[in-house]
Amino acid sequence: MENIIEIKNLTKIYRMGKEKVTALENVSLCIKKGEFCCILGTSGSGKSTLLNMIAGLEKPSKGQIIIKKHHLEKMNEKQVTKFRQDYVGFVFQSYNLLPNLTALENVAMPLVFSGMANKKRNNIAKEMLSAVGLGDRLHHRPSQMSGGQQQRVSIARAFVSRPQIVFADEPTGNLDTKTTEEVMDLMSGMTQKHNQTLIMVTHDVETAVYADRVIYFRDGHVEKIEVNNNKHKQGEEL
Ligand SMILES: Nc1ncnc2c1ncn2[C@@H]1O[C@H](COP(=O)(O)OP(=O)(O)OP(=O)(O)O)[C@@H](O)[C@H]1O
Ligand SMILES: [Mg+2]
Repeated sequence: MENIIEIKNLTKIYRMGKEKVTALENVSLCIKKGEFCCILGTSGSGKSTLLNMIAGLEKPSKGQIIIKKHHLEKMNEKQVTKFRQDYVGFVFQSYNLLPNLTALENVAMPLVFSGMANKKRNNIAKEMLSAVGLGDRLHHRPSQMSGGQQQRVSIARAFVSRPQIVFADEPTGNLDTKTTEEVMDLMSGMTQKHNQTLIMVTHDVETAVYADRVIYFRDGHVEKIEVNNNKHKQGEEL
């Protein structure tokens, strides 16, 4: 299978006055199209830094990020924005929904950039919300929904434009066990169905069982990579 993401000697150094924090040091990785990769590691090991750089939210200090033959580190802001709209969806731990918009408006938002007509956008967003079990919450605002429901809205938003790559940073960090299972089933089911690539950061070993590969992070570098031969199947009890 072809590599969709290639990371070469990636280094990120944060400078704060005279202090230097090396958040990532010489990380090299390849991720295949359609793969579900889990990045596991203790707090401060550099997981979010890595994800933010592959998603184009931050610039590396050194190294290369090649996604579908495009060099992300060489792009200017406008090109990165366009790249994100075309290829990337993002699920955050704290949902990051727009508080003044309804569930439907939040999910339809990424489609605005594609130039699609309003009615078509709303129909696709409705379908997506039904797919995550929220067909009866279309007009609720984030504050009128539970945490699990908000996360399902944010999953619908991340997947609505059928991006080739979805990033998720601790997507179940604020959820209970049962809701975690629902959210993981949803994400792994959707990515499998459409051969999308999913890269998820977590420090929860339990959710790593859904992944094809687990990449262990430690102090800004890859400690080991494990292939998950007994990948968790959708709907199985955790
Ligand atoms: N904007 C920043 N400025 C300075 N240092 C930073 C910045 N962002 C992250 N760091 C430092 O980089 C290191 C890696 O941080 P990162 O957020 O990637 O960790 P993480 O593995 O995601 O941790 P967690 O599991 O707690 O979310 C940490 O030591 C952190 O303090
Ligand atoms: Mg983090």
